[in-house]
Amino acid sequence: MTQDELKTLVGQAALQYVVPGEIVGVGTGSTVNKFIEALASMKDRVRGAVSSSVASTERLRAIGIPVFDANEVGELAVYIDGADEIDGQGHMVKGGGAALTREKIVAAQSRRFVCIADESKLVQALGGFPVPVEVIPMAAARITRQFAALGGQARLRTRDGDAVVTDNGQHLLDVSGLRITQPLAFESEVNQWPGVVTVGVFAHQKAAVCLLGTATGVRTLTF
Ligand code: 5RP
Repeated sequence: MTQDELKTLVGQAALQYVVPGEIVGVGTGSTVNKFIEALASMKDRVRGAVSSSVASTERLRAIGIPVFDANEVGELAVYIDGADEIDGQGHMVKGGGAALTREKIVAAQSRRFVCIADESKLVQALGGFPVPVEVIPMAAARITRQFAALGGQARLRTRDGDAVVTDNGQHLLDVSGLRITQPLAFESEVNQWPGVVTVGVFAHQKAAVCLLGTATGVRTLTF
């Protein structure tokens, strides 16, 4: 199976976690796009969604699913999203699609995080994928030096020569060279550096379940 087919498989498998009559939390990325396509088949059975990005909101509305502001609703039963990396305990690196801050917000509002990913995302230790960090632009150089002190190389994310601007109007650093063996402690430390909006390590908001697309079908990991 191609990576695209594996994403379709887990996107469809995630439907079993959607609670009929409730509002579902929806993440961002190419795997989630497969989930949104699958969700179209049960759109009359969901009350709506809270979305983690402008891109996902547009896709949800295009298939007729109402999208609510996070402030208008209470706790969500489930949040479904992809990951750039996931370890054997359900800790993740996220933010390759630049939506990490809103993803963490919706995950924090949800009882259960269901991660959907192809098997290439399962790792022994986080940090092989450069860790995305959303930052206030005026703090970027200092935060870059703080990562250097930890052995990481932070690069400003750019597109066509310009800094990528997130849905929240901020910039992104992608930090390579880190091997994150203590995700909870790492997330807690980086989160309190002045100017960091969100670090793309999801340890406090880790996955409860991961639906992993493999050549032999969907493998369900529970944490
Ligand atoms: C977006 C994310 C995505 O979940 C992550 O980048 C995985 O994306 P894809 O499903 O396209 O591989 O965190 O900010």
